[in-house]
Amino acid sequence: MSSIAAQAKIIDEVKIDILTQTQDADNAKWLRDVSRSFVSDTITAPTEDMYAYAVRASLGDDVYNEPCTKILETHMAKLTGKEAALFVPSGTMSNQLALRAYCHLTISKKCAHTWAFRYEAGGTAFHSGAQLECVLPSNGHHLTLEDVQNNVVISSDVHSCPTAIIELENTLNGTIIPQEEVIAISDYAHSNGIIMHLDGARIWHVAAETGTSIKDLCDPFDSVSLCFSKGLGAPIGSCLVGSQAFITRARWFRKMFGGGMRQTGFMAAAAAYALTYNFAKLLDVHALARKLEVGLEEIGVKITSRAETCMVFYDPSPVGVSYAEIVSRAGSLASPIKLGGSRLVVHIQTTEETIDDFLALVRELAQEKKAAGFDPSAQKGQPNGRANTNIYVKVAQADVAKLQKE
Ligand SMILES: Cc1ncc(COP(=O)(O)O)c(C=O)c1O
Repeated sequence: MSSIAAQAKIIDEVKIDILTQTQDADNAKWLRDVSRSFVSDTITAPTEDMYAYAVRASLGDDVYNEPCTKILETHMAKLTGKEAALFVPSGTMSNQLALRAYCHLTISKKCAHTWAFRYEAGGTAFHSGAQLECVLPSNGHHLTLEDVQNNVVISSDVHSCPTAIIELENTLNGTIIPQEEVIAISDYAHSNGIIMHLDGARIWHVAAETGTSIKDLCDPFDSVSLCFSKGLGAPIGSCLVGSQAFITRARWFRKMFGGGMRQTGFMAAAAAYALTYNFAKLLDVHALARKLEVGLEEIGVKITSRAETCMVFYDPSPVGVSYAEIVSRAGSLASPIKLGGSRLVVHIQTTEETIDDFLALVRELAQEKKAAGFDPSAQKGQPNGRANTNIYVKVAQADVAKLQKE
């Protein structure tokens, strides 16, 4: 084969058309499916308007300071009241970078800890060699100063594993930590030289619901991770904010972890669009979540975690129905509804029709059970099906004094 023929063959082999013949119709269907899914707010799909704005973004390389991305980072630093910000692909990377940046001075030493305990693919041990300790709130809702005091290790004894970082998550499973408790924990932590990090993937919801500014919510923390790709509906991206020295370290680790992206302007623009147009929709989202909660309670379903923002956790067993039955019947509707187990997430693309259809389905199932002889009044109260387990006190032995001097 001549080299020209060989090259032409390779050119053909490399080609691919990933769009289907019916891509526009497929996308319309996808958007409809998203509007009928309670699985997560991460599934929210970018809209034509968002993309129309995003394609006009600057075209620079973010490893060399991409212009639109820089503007977004500056805005995020100002909004959160921190010195600097770093745009990253995901919430996982944002949280992992934070801990890695805190631990980098002392990573060879023993670390002790609690954070990203259950999720983030166990990345904290892998990336930071840090040990995590997970603390459950004794009130079943939010971590209190007392919980923290009962669990931190403040000691110079060589046998101990001192607490160096506390991470909170707000919202946590859709619930809001009272800000006065956050401040009390932060004051206590800082007075003992402990760093405070917030997984604020959904801090937007707290600000929307309580009217507390993003800056005030972030003030008690040394660093915060905020996500654009969840409740705000951007396709990708999170931001880590903190001191200039901390963000400089995190930027270095971002590159090391392979997260130094290139032409990120369109991603930053999609995030900017989400901040500008989608944040304002969150109160409507919360109202829909409350409608879901009220409707489920009217049917006799137990609410195991209230709709403080965009999530409701429920237990249908008091009306004789199982999660599996609901999932199966919802998936068989003419216009299917997708859901997982006990958690229902409402997002900016959830329609009121979906809430109504879901409630009608649960009501129908409860009536079927009753007709088949199930007696709800004979049911003992169900134990609360879940606890707010997803909260972590994150402790890493780091040379805190040294870090704070930087
Ligand atoms: C509270 C919270 N933090 C962090 C993450 C991780 O974010 P990502 O999926 O962008 O890595 C998630 C994911 O849903 C989350 O809910």
